[in-house]
Amino acid sequence: MSTIITTHSLTKSYGDRTVVDGLDLRVPEGCVYGFVGPNGAGKSTTMKMLLSLVRPTRGEVRVMGRRMDRSTRRELLGSIGSLIETPPAYAHLTGAENMRLVQRLLRLGDGRVDRAVRTVRLQDHLDKRVRAYSLGMKQRLGIAMALAREPRLLVLDEPANGLDPAGIDEMRHLIKRLADDGITVMVSSHLLDEVDRTATVLGILGGGRLLFQGTRDELFSRSVPDVLIDTSEPERAAAATEPWGGTLDEGTVRVPGLDHPATAEVVARLVDARVDVYGVRREDRSLEDVFMDLTRGRGL
Ligand SMILES: Nc1ncnc2c1ncn2[C@@H]1O[C@H](COP(=O)(O)OP(=O)(O)OP(=O)(O)O)[C@@H](O)[C@H]1O
Ligand SMILES: [Mg+2]
Repeated sequence: MSTIITTHSLTKSYGDRTVVDGLDLRVPEGCVYGFVGPNGAGKSTTMKMLLSLVRPTRGEVRVMGRRMDRSTRRELLGSIGSLIETPPAYAHLTGAENMRLVQRLLRLGDGRVDRAVRTVRLQDHLDKRVRAYSLGMKQRLGIAMALAREPRLLVLDEPANGLDPAGIDEMRHLIKRLADDGITVMVSSHLLDEVDRTATVLGILGGGRLLFQGTRDELFSRSVPDVLIDTSEPERAAAATEPWGGTLDEGTVRVPGLDHPATAEVVARLVDARVDVYGVRREDRSLEDVFMDLTRGRGL
C-alpha cells in the first residue's frame, strides 16, 4: 500500500517547549486516518506542519514520496484540501457566493464546484447567508470549499467539534462518502469514539508523541486489560498476586494491566499456592478505555 503522507522525526518547539516530538507518521493512500489525542496533544500543530502553515523545528514531511520544501510546496499542496479549526467561509456572503470565490481563485470549472456542494449535501442551502447556517452546515461548506479542487488528500482538524449528535453523524457519513470516492481523509478528534467507526488507521498522540499507529485491531491486541479472578479465597488470591499489583475488588481480585504472558504467570502462581480459583477473566474494554490508558501514560 502506498503512503500519501510520511513524516520523519517531525518536531515543533516553541522556545524550550517541545509540543510535537519526533513524529513518524504513515498515512496510507485511500484510508481514513483518525488522528486522536487529548486537548493540547499537538494535533493541530502537526496538521499545520503537514500543510506548511507552521514551520517544523526539525524533521520532514513527504507528500506522495516527495519532500515538502520551498520549491515543491505549492505543487504538493495543490493535491491537499484542508479544514483547520474555524470554518473558512465569509459569514456575510451566501454559500453560493463563497463557492464562487473559491472557484475564481482556483480557476475551476462549474462541474467541480457542483460536485463538491452535492457531496456535502448543501445544494438546497446555497442561497442562504453563511451567517444563518448551523455550525454543521458551516463545517460542510468549509469541506466543500476544500473539495472543489478535487484533492487526493483531505486534512480535517476536529470537524465534529461543537456539533450535536445528528451533526456528528452527518460528518461521519460525509467522511465515509469521501473515502468511498477514493479520497484519503486525515481527521483529528480528541474523542476516539468519534473517529472509531470511520477511521481505518489510527494515530494516537499524547504529549506531542505518537503513542500508537495502526489499525483498531492492532490497538486492541496490544492493550493490556485488567484480569479478574473469581475465587472462594479472595484474601489468599490477593496475597498471591500482590507482586503483580493484585487487590481485592468487591469479592473478586483485580490484577491491573496484564498481557498474555503475565496472565499465564499469575495463573501459575495461583495454582502453585493452591488458591481455590473458579474463574479468570480478562476485563472487557472499550476502545475509549484503551485510549485513556495510553494517553494517561500507562502505555500498551
Ligand atoms: N503558537 C504557539 N506558541 C506557543 N505554544 C503553542 C503555539 N501553538 C500551540 N502551542 C502549544 O502547543 C501545544 C499543542 O497545541 P495544539 O493546538 O497542537 O494541540 P491540539 O492537540 O490540537 O489540542 P486541542 O484538542 O485543544 O485542539 C499546546 O500546549 C499549545 O499551548
Ligand atoms: Mg487542535
